[in-house]
Amino acid sequence: MVGYAFMGAAHSQAWRTVNRVYDLPARARMALICGRDAGKVADAADRLGWDAYTTDWRDLIARDDIDVVDICTPGDSHAEIALAALAAGKHVLCEKPLANTVSEAREMAAAAAVAQASGVRSMCGFNYRRVPAVTMMRQLVADGRLGVIRHVRATYLQDWIVDPQFPLVWRLQRDKAGSGALGDIGAHIIDLTQFVTGQRISGVSALTETFVKERPLPAGSSGLAATVDGAGPVDGHRPATGLVTVDDAAVFVARLDGGALATYEASRFATGRKNALRVEINGSLGSVVFDLERLNELEFHDATRPTAEQGFTRILVTESEHPYMSAWWPPGHIIGYEHSFTHEMRDFIEAVATGADPTPSFADALQVQLVLDAVTRSADLGSSWTEVEPALATVAA
Ligand SMILES: NC(=O)c1ccc[n+]([C@@H]2O[C@H](COP(=O)([O-])OP(=O)(O)OC[C@H]3O[C@@H](n4cnc5c(N)ncnc54)[C@H](O)[C@@H]3O)[C@@H](O)[C@H]2O)c1
Repeated sequence: MVGYAFMGAAHSQAWRTVNRVYDLPARARMALICGRDAGKVADAADRLGWDAYTTDWRDLIARDDIDVVDICTPGDSHAEIALAALAAGKHVLCEKPLANTVSEAREMAAAAAVAQASGVRSMCGFNYRRVPAVTMMRQLVADGRLGVIRHVRATYLQDWIVDPQFPLVWRLQRDKAGSGALGDIGAHIIDLTQFVTGQRISGVSALTETFVKERPLPAGSSGLAATVDGAGPVDGHRPATGLVTVDDAAVFVARLDGGALATYEASRFATGRKNALRVEINGSLGSVVFDLERLNELEFHDATRPTAEQGFTRILVTESEHPYMSAWWPPGHIIGYEHSFTHEMRDFIEAVATGADPTPSFADALQVQLVLDAVTRSADLGSSWTEVEPALATVAA
């Protein structure tokens, strides 16, 4: 694994847990974790359960006894690490968004296609697909229970940078993160809604905004938390503040290729909203609603029932026949955020061990990147209608 902070901890918990919960054809051994600071990565290895640590990710690639490389760093290092790992025949799990640019994502998807021919697997970490209620939503759509999908309404709202004094962490710098709320949380609802509906976004009209354009430089950061350097300018030239180079919020309307109309909102300025991911889908025969803050539940309206009995039904998605749930607790004994990562590792290990291709593939993640790119271009052009380039053509090119 490369990176030991927010996602490093979430993925480590999943790697530790997955073989204890699921009966799988292969067992994960947590061999080597990489970070740039020797002291901190040594502590992380100990705390998170890794056998050893290193400060150079190339050590993971060089070791013959390492089969899988799990990339949990910011987007500016995804492409370099993934390309080296795939070339060395390592299976790769890479956090989302796949890359910082379409050209990097295109190169990664092409390398994954080449590696796949020799049995090397790759997957992008869109973990919300693996929340049981979300997987169940997809099954309801695939089984035709919603009929023809007409509307998709998706929001992903946070508020961790509302304070203008919150520092300029890597997530607010284009060269490190690629984009802001759009690529960080917007990417999740793009992937989730395409996964659930089986339809892909074909075109968009978008607005993006950076509400706070300059922020203090950070002293340190991890995940969504950071501290400010109280010492002021470090020398005569370096300012104590820096420019925000990404969007704080992105809003767009979209057409899906199966005929649905969709709206998306991703913001880090939704005061009071901490990690509020909500998706509603309306079809000719019914509707479903998922709310991450109530992740064990799904609201389902079945319009084929007698009119007098219709209404949104709250389904508690904890029965053993629900996706992923048979290995957990008795019905009603709920699960949480971290379980989505255990499910991710389960599916990844199973695919690698049985010689199947895990999803979402790098090509799927490239398609999400193409949507992010279309949103950015549309916003730059005064919200003009912008078609999303087909991913397959891009990989072939
Ligand atoms: N799936 C999800 O729900 C989810 C949630 C949060 C973040 N993410 C994604 O995970 C990735 C990491 O985000 P995070 O929140 O964990 O960030 P973070 O700031 O908490 O951690 C980043 C880690 O990467 C390390 N790192 C950075 N550059 C490195 C390099 N060149 N070599 C070795 N280590 C390096 C840092 O030291 C740190 O340990 C991003 O791509 C982000 O978009 C996904």
